[in-house]
Amino acid sequence: MSEFDLEQVDHLLSTTRAVRKRLDLERDVPRELLMDCIRIATQAPAGGNYQKWRWVMVDDPDLKMVIADAYRRSYAPYIERQRSAVADKAPDNSTLGKIMSSSDYLAEILEQVPVLAIPCSLGSPADAGPDPQGWWGSVLPAVWSYMLAARARGLGTAWTTLHLGYADEVGEALGIPSTITQLACVPTAYYTGDTFRPGKRRPAEEITYWNQWKNTTV
Ligand SMILES: Cc1cc2nc3c(=O)[nH]c(=O)nc-3n(C[C@H](O)[C@H](O)[C@H](O)COP(=O)(O)O)c2cc1C
Repeated sequence: MSEFDLEQVDHLLSTTRAVRKRLDLERDVPRELLMDCIRIATQAPAGGNYQKWRWVMVDDPDLKMVIADAYRRSYAPYIERQRSAVADKAPDNSTLGKIMSSSDYLAEILEQVPVLAIPCSLGSPADAGPDPQGWWGSVLPAVWSYMLAARARGLGTAWTTLHLGYADEVGEALGIPSTITQLACVPTAYYTGDTFRPGKRRPAEEITYWNQWKNTTV
């Protein structure tokens, strides 16, 4: 028997969505609640247990504006490319249409989100020599743990990376030395509404191979 309530745990793991339109822009998030999420995130695995993660939590309006401005400058050409790709292929317009309208919204209101969390790592993947995967793998799981811990506390988050095209500019405003790598920007706010549903994903049976590439026979 598991020591966990699997229904609850699986619900958390399968309903931690990219929250954009349901971010509550009016309600402040206590710093101590965010510290709890980071405390949980420090339990993520890290190669050699080096714990190179650092978190820059931005709730200052002027600094949030710097990040939002950088984000929007990357977002405009990005979403233009996405829109033409969708117009060309139109594989599943309704799903992609929803993601785009939700993404547009986040880009518009980013500076109004109560907190923009910028997870960082000491150093850069170039330091890892032949093992850049080890470098990324030692910092990114903590970001997901933060998002799960947030969701469990009634906070919505979204993993975003678009401001990173202007990481130097944002880094300068936040006093982040150039030797540090910013990993993402995670808007964090209470979410509105009750709960979330699992997202659309390819079936596990289709993407799992046993012993040989493409062998899906269990
Ligand atoms: C590495 C990475 C980068 C992402 N960058 C952005 C981003 O810049 N802006 C955004 O709105 N969403 C971003 N997302 C969120 C994805 O769009 C989202 O996870 C995906 O649409 C699936 O939605 P779901 O997580 O709610 O199931 C990113 C996700 C990941 C993992």
